[in-house]
Amino acid sequence: MAHDIALLPGDGIGVEVVDAATPLLERAAETHDFEVETTRYEWGSDRFLDEGSLFPDDAMDRLADHDAILHGAMGDPRVPDYVTSIEGPIAIRQAFDLYVNYRPVRLHDAGNTPLKGYGRNDVDIAWFRENSEGEYVDIGGRLDRGGGSELAIQTSVYTEKGVERVVRAAFEAALDREGYLTNVTKSNALRYGPVFWDEVVEDVAESYPSVTLEHLLVDAASMDFVLRPDEFDVVVGPNLFGDILTDLTAAVTGGLGLAPSANVNPDGDAPGLYEPVHGSAPDIAGEGVANPIAAVLSGALMFEDLGEESAADALRDAVAAHLADDGAPHTPDLGGDGTTANVVADLRSRL
Ligand code: NAI
Ligand code: MG
Repeated sequence: MAHDIALLPGDGIGVEVVDAATPLLERAAETHDFEVETTRYEWGSDRFLDEGSLFPDDAMDRLADHDAILHGAMGDPRVPDYVTSIEGPIAIRQAFDLYVNYRPVRLHDAGNTPLKGYGRNDVDIAWFRENSEGEYVDIGGRLDRGGGSELAIQTSVYTEKGVERVVRAAFEAALDREGYLTNVTKSNALRYGPVFWDEVVEDVAESYPSVTLEHLLVDAASMDFVLRPDEFDVVVGPNLFGDILTDLTAAVTGGLGLAPSANVNPDGDAPGLYEPVHGSAPDIAGEGVANPIAAVLSGALMFEDLGEESAADALRDAVAAHLADDGAPHTPDLGGDGTTANVVADLRSRL
């Protein structure tokens, strides 16, 4: 059995972490008797500067032919961030209607986190971020640009279909986990979209009587994720809140260098897009010290969705053993002085 993977490294440390993770994924495949075939697409900011677009015109057709996409990140100081975001990963999520952004948050080792005293897996949160609409629909406009009394409008869109399907996916996950779902919105100050979202959640909840539902406002939630992260199980929220809060939950459990994500459409056969939560980190790009673990764990999520559970577990076990070993070379974001290559070698020896 061979899985056909598109590699889309992107920019900055996106390239470094995808190049670091790929041989580890191949190694895990080899030891679990399946093959991965990879095709590397050199699309990103250099292409934008040379040719005027991040992707060629037929990019989505080419990506559609693969079983899954492993992405690094896009973003470059020479290109406006809204170009690399909206025409980059956001365009892929929308083209393939990847409406669930699944972001598991797990405490591997409390050593370098604010969670001293907590043990491995005491924090284990499954984030379901709405990934197709909300605040990221790119609808809006600007009037009197630079004219002295400029006006800008940015519109959020919440549809019944769009909210319902991600909320249902989150309830389904809660059934498989601890049966506890937290809904994060801001329906005190925003009385149209978020209030509608909460109503849809209540409607869907009727089909899941065994799941305990909790509603939190996003400001209170940001505090609770720091103060009582061990009490969460599955969390669902709109696109923008999910984007912001998953950086927070990543930081609490060890940083962006450890946080993976999957962009998927559970209903269709579009390829999922697997990528670390972090960006292209221009501040450390080129130094060889990017933490590759978020990319490796994103590869584990990809293997899990491709039906290769044991290879996914092998990758996660190698990461857990690496993080728990004080003598192993850790990257500077975790307080060590190891390089990306040192971490890859260490993980490889554990696979
Ligand atoms: P960032 O996630 O790239 O970096 C934030 C901080 O975390 C930096 O100090 C960075 O050095 C550190 N960091 C991130 N990943 C790390 C890793 N694997 N190992 C060690 N340290 C790591 O976020 P920032 O700086 O806000 O954005 C940089 C660029 O990335 C921007 O152009 C932004 O638009 C883009 N971006 C792209 C994303 C994507 O392609 N999906 C997602 C987030 C940001
Ligand atoms: Mg983000």
